[in-house]
Amino acid sequence: MFLLNGKRILVTGASRGIGFGISKILAHHGAHLYLTSLDPTRLEEAVQKINQDPNTRGIIAGYSATDLSRPGNGSTIVKKAVDSMNGLDGIVYVPPPPPPGFFNELTSDDWRYSSQVLIHSAVEIVKTALDSLKESARSNRNPSIVFVTSIAAWEPDPVITTSSALRIALHGLTQVLARDIGRYGIRVNAIVPGYILTDRLMSLATKKIPDNPEKYLDSLREKIPLGRIGTPEDMGYVALFLLSDASSYINGAIIPVDGGLHRKTI
Ligand SMILES: NC(=O)c1ccc[n+]([C@@H]2O[C@H](COP(=O)([O-])OP(=O)(O)OC[C@H]3O[C@@H](n4cnc5c(N)ncnc54)[C@H](OP(=O)(O)O)[C@@H]3O)[C@@H](O)[C@H]2O)c1
Repeated sequence: MFLLNGKRILVTGASRGIGFGISKILAHHGAHLYLTSLDPTRLEEAVQKINQDPNTRGIIAGYSATDLSRPGNGSTIVKKAVDSMNGLDGIVYVPPPPPPGFFNELTSDDWRYSSQVLIHSAVEIVKTALDSLKESARSNRNPSIVFVTSIAAWEPDPVITTSSALRIALHGLTQVLARDIGRYGIRVNAIVPGYILTDRLMSLATKKIPDNPEKYLDSLREKIPLGRIGTPEDMGYVALFLLSDASSYINGAIIPVDGGLHRKTI
């Protein structure tokens, strides 16, 4: 028996990094997946990797590339996912990375892009998915939404200004939705990556120390209590738990996955 036996889940940002790590782990545990990202070729490669992985126990029911920075595309992708899987039991919203930059480097378009991908697109996806998720709850399939956010919501970093300013909105959405649509039996939780080794982290490392990004990664390892940078699979196992019936009483939680980096006592 696999934890996600046949649960129908839409994952965004699925071609690489955190979204790919999550998709891989969900597929290992029996999920039926609909995957999306920006670049069709990279998405196709990701789908092939999961299909060829001997540990895959679920299926990829469908996939298509879409630009989530454009209003309307979040809604379209949910409709495609529902059609392909004949319903929907879960969503993992991995936001496209917003453009990095100090405040004075960023344009109005950068701010618009960032707010679209960090909050509006998530809202659109949940709105469009709501009827299908309610149907899932009525059929006792225990629907669950997982938002991926960022430690920048708690510890602002001037190199990623828009992320630091706007991620907190997704934390707010997590908690308000948990109270609002929780009453239909739909759970909403967030996972908060610290530093996870992906293309995005490498580009930030290069921005911090252009001639020696590895030095920046070493400085991160020194400040992380567990002494290592996280992997996309570390994120995947937490998403797996939150999408599974094993977490059926967890709603509105905002869970750090950061090796102990972030400390707070209240
Ligand atoms: N890595 C970390 O340490 C870390 C820490 C905190 C927060 N985060 C956040 O977690 C999220 C995922 O980060 P990551 O490290 O996994 O990044 P990544 O490895 O660069 O992957 C980004 C993913 O987003 C997709 N994407 C990019 N632009 C898109 C668009 N306009 N529309 C739809 N999809 C788009 C990419 O698709 P293609 O491959 O098709 O381009 C890819 O699947 C980001 O929001 C990032 O800021 C990451």
